[in-house]
This record gives sequence, C-alpha cells and structure tokens, in this order.
Amino acid sequence: MQNFDLFLISLGILLIITASWSIAGYFGAPWLPTPLWKVDKMLKMAELKKGETLIDLGAGDGRIVIWAALRYKANAIGVEIDPLRCLWANFLITILGLRKYARVEYKNIYEIDFLHTADVITLYLLQSTNEKLSEKLSMECKPSARIISRTFSFPKWALQKEDARNKFYVYEKK
Ligand SMILES: C[S@@+](CC[C@H](N)C(=O)[O-])C[C@H]1O[C@@H](n2cnc3c(N)ncnc32)[C@H](O)[C@@H]1O
Repeated sequence: MQNFDLFLISLGILLIITASWSIAGYFGAPWLPTPLWKVDKMLKMAELKKGETLIDLGAGDGRIVIWAALRYKANAIGVEIDPLRCLWANFLITILGLRKYARVEYKNIYEIDFLHTADVITLYLLQSTNEKLSEKLSMECKPSARIISRTFSFPKWALQKEDARNKFYVYEKK
C-alpha cells in the first residue's frame, strides 16, 4: 500500500472519530469514560442490588452497564447516541457472556420511554444536559428510583447524598 493511501485511511479514521465525538457533544455530552474504580464507587453509593434495573444515560463504551451486570448482578441497560460506541459496547457485553443481563440501546436519551423501569439511573453528561433532562426524569422515573450523577448536579432537586471529593450526587424522588 502506498504511503498516500495510508495517509488517506488515517485521515478518514481521524475524521470519523472527531465527527462522532462532536456529534455526541452536540446532542448531550462528549465521550469521557469514567474510570472503573469510580464506576464501582458510584454503584455502591447508589446501593445497587442484585436483580435491580440500572439505566446509564449516555453509556459510552458500556462500562457502567457491564460493571453493574458483572459485579452487582443487576439488569443493566445503556442508552447511547453514538452508533460505533454502541456497537462496541454490545460487542463487549456479548464476549463477556452478559447478553441476558445487559444491553446498550442506540437511542437518544431525550426520546426513551422506559425510564419508569429503572431502580438506579446513572449519568455523566453535562450541566446543561442534566438541566434539560430534569423534567423528563421527574415525570417518568418511579418514586423510589435513585439517580446518581457524576460531576454535574440537578440544582433544583433536593440532594440525598454527596461525595464531594469524587463529585457524585445522589437524588431520590420519594
Ligand atoms: C461523558 S460520556 C459518559 C460515558 C459513560 N456513562 C461513563 O461514565 O463512562 C457521555 C456519553 O453520552 C453520550 N451521549 C451524549 N448525548 C447523548 C444523547 N442525547 N443520547 C444518548 N447518548 C448521548 C455520548 O456519546 C457519550 O458516550
């Protein structure tokens, strides 16, 4: 293969990655993965239990969904707007043998209609996205749902628990 072909292929890959990052950012938040040790802290703080349903809004590579299913035996659903990350997440779920307990759906978080099924909702988006989502969450989540947001808060809601060091905020509708 000629050097110029390689250059064009690399440029194409770079463009696809940049476009997918920007599009996701435009819709709600760019992709910034949460380190696994923080994922575990978040799920502990949300008191996720075996058999409960977790929904990760903006699932990225599916790490929260995978961890929730693998370590907590939860039914975990991710929602992701980037088709490539969604494919990758489902690929990981499949090779880890977790298809029965976990999946990532290629959907826009503003358009899903299954929030009422969640016992725990995790989010790591943006402040403006949380604010845009807050009405949907208030209207559609069940009263006992625990909502845990990384870094960004819901200023109009009463905070139940906070980990100021890691910037985790837990809310319950109750
Ligand atoms: C900061 S990352 C968090 C990923 C993962 N939850 C984690 O903590 O590792 C935010 C993710 O939300 C996705 N996202 C942004 N806007 C979205 C939307 N409107 N609907 C679904 N996913 C969205 C992005 O593509 C990105 O993967």
